[in-house]
Amino acid sequence: MRQIVIATSNTGKFKEIRDVLADAFDRFYSLNDFDEKVLVEEDSPLYVENVIKKARKIGDRFGIETIADDSGLEVEALGGRPGVLSARYGDTDDERIARLLSELEGVEWKKRGAVFKAYLAFYIPEREVSYVFYGALSGYITFEKRGDQGFGYDPVFYVPEYDKAFAELTMEVKNSISHRGRALHAFSKFLNAVKK
Ligand code: IMP
Repeated sequence: MRQIVIATSNTGKFKEIRDVLADAFDRFYSLNDFDEKVLVEEDSPLYVENVIKKARKIGDRFGIETIADDSGLEVEALGGRPGVLSARYGDTDDERIARLLSELEGVEWKKRGAVFKAYLAFYIPEREVSYVFYGALSGYITFEKRGDQGFGYDPVFYVPEYDKAFAELTMEVKNSISHRGRALHAFSKFLNAVKK
C-alpha cells in the first residue's frame, strides 16, 4: 500500500492535491491526522529551500513519503513583493489584500502585472531524496476585490485568458490553470513516468 502525507492542515489544499494524486497513492494523510505538530520554520528567502525543508522534516518524522507546497505572489511594480512572504503580509486574507491594494494605489493597469508561483517538493524518506516541481501563472492585480470563491489573494488576481479574477472562477477551472495546478500536473506526470 502506497501512502503519502500532504503536508498541509488546510482542507481545501489537501483535497485539491489528493484529487490529482488519487490514482498514484492508496492512503492520504494531512497534518491534521497526526497529534504531533512538527515545527518547520520557513526561514529561507527561497521557496525551493523552504519546501524541501518542510517535506524532508515531515517525511523523516513520520517515515512516509511526503509532498509539501509553498507558493507566493510576486508583483512587478513592488519589485517582486510579497513573494516568499505572501502568507506573512498581514494577519488575515483581508489584511493582506488591503495592504497589497494600498501599496498599488495610483499604479496603472499595465504596471499591475503579477505572477503566482508554486513549488512542490516530494520527499522519499527511504532514499533521502527530494524531487521539486514548479508551476506559475501570470496575471494582474485588480483595483478592487472581485468574486467570492477561493481563498487568499484570489479576489485580486485577474487572469486575462478568462477575463476574470481567480475568485470569479469555479474551483475546477481555477485548479486546472493555477500555479499549484500546474506544479501538480508536473508531479503527476513524473509519477506516471516513474511507474512505467
Ligand atoms: P502558502 O504557500 O500556502 O503558504 O501560500 C502563501 C500565501 O499565498 C498565502 O497567503 C496564500 O493565501 C497565498 N496563496 C497561495 N496560493 C494561492 C491561491 O491559489 N490563491 C490565492 N492566494 C494564494
